[in-house]
Amino acid sequence: MELSEALRTNPSVRDFTDAPVGDEDLAALLEVARFAPSGGNLQPWHVAVIKDLVLRRQLADLCGPVWSDYLAEGMTGATPFTVVGPPPTVEPLGPQPNPLLDAIESVPVVLVVAADLGQIAMMDKDLDRATLSGGASVYPFIHSILLAARDRGLGGVMTTFLARAEVEARPLLGLPDTWAVASMVFLGHPVRRATKLARRPVAAFTTVDRFDGPPFPP
Ligand SMILES: Cc1cc2nc3c(=O)[nH]c(=O)nc-3n(C[C@H](O)[C@H](O)[C@H](O)COP(=O)(O)O)c2cc1C
Repeated sequence: MELSEALRTNPSVRDFTDAPVGDEDLAALLEVARFAPSGGNLQPWHVAVIKDLVLRRQLADLCGPVWSDYLAEGMTGATPFTVVGPPPTVEPLGPQPNPLLDAIESVPVVLVVAADLGQIAMMDKDLDRATLSGGASVYPFIHSILLAARDRGLGGVMTTFLARAEVEARPLLGLPDTWAVASMVFLGHPVRRATKLARRPVAAFTTVDRFDGPPFPP
């Protein structure tokens, strides 16, 4: 598939057919994704292929309350879990349906991708705000997994809800103390694939020289 076409047409897929994804297919797409860039080329990622259905259920159960809180915060009009401004006053919603989490046992592929914090040069670590730059050493790899999946006719979604339950997930996953959960990734054969993605146009986020500069393209 042509690269521009793949970049423009790789929506989140959360609805999968029953068709399994073999280990060979998964290994082959990881073989492509491993060429992703990372700071200092340290490649600080590790992928756990979650096959144990009991473990899948435990991980989904950890994500359930996160999903409910995310929805509840979103209903206030705030960006859920934002680090900017005071936290919103939230009415707890209680358990909320989530097709991915509710049916996690039947998702063809569930991956947890974690990053070794000891191998990330956290450039913004001394600033007086939440860090951001370190994620750039692992999320391109995860995006490459999604693009490599697309190339093989698969679809999927990167999720971050498990990151919020990292403390509880750590012993279940055998995740070392100095590693951070980056994403739980779901893959499979799409039931359908959106063809038109809702994305802002270039002019809405690009300017010349300064962030308050003239628009680009002119
Ligand atoms: C950093 C990141 C975190 C995300 N976290 C979640 C998540 O926790 N749960 C989920 O269902 N989707 C998650 N997504 C998927 C986004 O909801 C999705 O990329 C976005 O809504 C665009 O959807 P579309 O590609 O189908 O248009 C995440 C995506 C990214 C890039």
